[in-house]
Amino acid sequence: MNLGDIIKNIPEEKDLSLRARPYFNHSVEMKKIFSPEERADALESVGLNVFYFPSEMITGCDLLSDSGISTMTSEQWAALHLGDEAYGSNRGYYLLMKQIRETFGHEFFNDPSSGSLNAFIFHQGRSCEDTLFSVLGKYGSDFVIPNNGHFDTTAAHIKANDMEALDLFCPELKDEHSPSHFKGNMDVLRFKELLRISHNRIPMVFLTITNNTTAGHPVSMENIKVVAELTRSYKIPLFFDACRFAENAWFIKRYEQGYEDKTIEDIVKEMFSYVDGFTISFKKDGLVNMGGGLFLKHNGLFMKKFPDMPDILVHHQIIKEGHPTYGGLSGRDIMALTVGLKIVTKEEYLTYRISQVQDFGKTMSNLGIPVLLPTGGHAVYVDVNRFFKDTGMKPDDFGGIALTAVLLAAYGHRACELGHFAFGSYDQSSQKEIVPEINYVRFGIPRLRYEKRDLDAVAEAMHVLHECRDKIPGVKVISGRGLSLRHFRARFRFKK
Ligand SMILES: Cc1ncc(COP(=O)(O)O)c(C=O)c1O
Repeated sequence: MNLGDIIKNIPEEKDLSLRARPYFNHSVEMKKIFSPEERADALESVGLNVFYFPSEMITGCDLLSDSGISTMTSEQWAALHLGDEAYGSNRGYYLLMKQIRETFGHEFFNDPSSGSLNAFIFHQGRSCEDTLFSVLGKYGSDFVIPNNGHFDTTAAHIKANDMEALDLFCPELKDEHSPSHFKGNMDVLRFKELLRISHNRIPMVFLTITNNTTAGHPVSMENIKVVAELTRSYKIPLFFDACRFAENAWFIKRYEQGYEDKTIEDIVKEMFSYVDGFTISFKKDGLVNMGGGLFLKHNGLFMKKFPDMPDILVHHQIIKEGHPTYGGLSGRDIMALTVGLKIVTKEEYLTYRISQVQDFGKTMSNLGIPVLLPTGGHAVYVDVNRFFKDTGMKPDDFGGIALTAVLLAAYGHRACELGHFAFGSYDQSSQKEIVPEINYVRFGIPRLRYEKRDLDAVAEAMHVLHECRDKIPGVKVISGRGLSLRHFRARFRFKK
């Protein structure tokens, strides 16, 4: 018997998160070490707002976000040197055009010499949203834009342009015992009803893949197909907010019947065959630190419904970001992005990446910390209400803010409150807080940055904090309570 035949009968590892990483360290950065007291002083001096805490003082893991904090590969660092910084039509632009077509489909980036532009490069995701929605808002009034879950900046841009941002979370999301692997789906029943009553008010529909607002849960191909059929029957364009498209494709391959033998590349192509365009922040599945784009499908419903839109979008892009052949990016950024897009659909990378997130969630859960299960693709979410269940922590004590402050000062790990404070608002007339249903602290996992040991250290710190949760007081808001996107800017102080 030859060795090849023998290993056919040897099973693969039981726990994929224990498989060796599909990469090794190319270079590393030594951390500076600070004491808990030094961190506490620094955090108090910025009003307990973790966004203003100096990252150099983070001795543990910086899990504030998975966005823009990827470690680039050696090929990407090498590609930076090949960046062409010409003011127009730099070398990278053509390479990016080729790569976008290869990854997402040929209809998404016309050859610019054809005279018809359908690809708009921006420096990050929210600048695509700004341009798209400020233009769209002028096409009518009383618009509503449904989504399986709007990201905060997406909703903010829609509202800033006098349109309504409507979330249609699926019912399985609220069911802790639901075995669904696709809790990021859109609620199809509510969507059908909305279309029946209000289709004239809907200029376009969004699906966010994966659904960041619902813990990074993926959207199934079936849900994409059903939503696409419905939107098409009403001649309404469908878009993706595609920041984590590759992670979404991995979940489809792993958990959706009929996709197990397809490649990630083919699944991505199928997903994008159902939409008329997409916005994307490349700071996630572009595997780069900066970049974004808005892509319209050539001859898709959006371009047919709004035929003069590309010209208006280019005008916006030129005055806000730059010529369409570089958008808001330097030539070297474009080169690194082109390489990042080639890497991100590699199955071995995605298997490692998502197993790492799943393992971190499982470790926390095994230690008794209430996390949302199953975990999504890019983050682990701790349920703050359940964390402080028996402590008397009230909604306007903002337990999530208190927890992130103590975690950062005591152990040097940074996480982000996405709950009563970030998603709540302050009603000036009644002088009361409007409290949202969800109340999480998010641990966003940067791509290719940390090892199991680092994340185990976070889980251990959370374990200790959970055991002494009654020693964590609530916070009061010192300033910024009434601001939009207030969590980025508000300041706090501990109550006791
Ligand atoms: C789903 C989603 N859409 C849009 C954005 C905005 O992207 P950016 O941070 O590049 O502006 C983000 C950022 O986290 C996101 O997660």
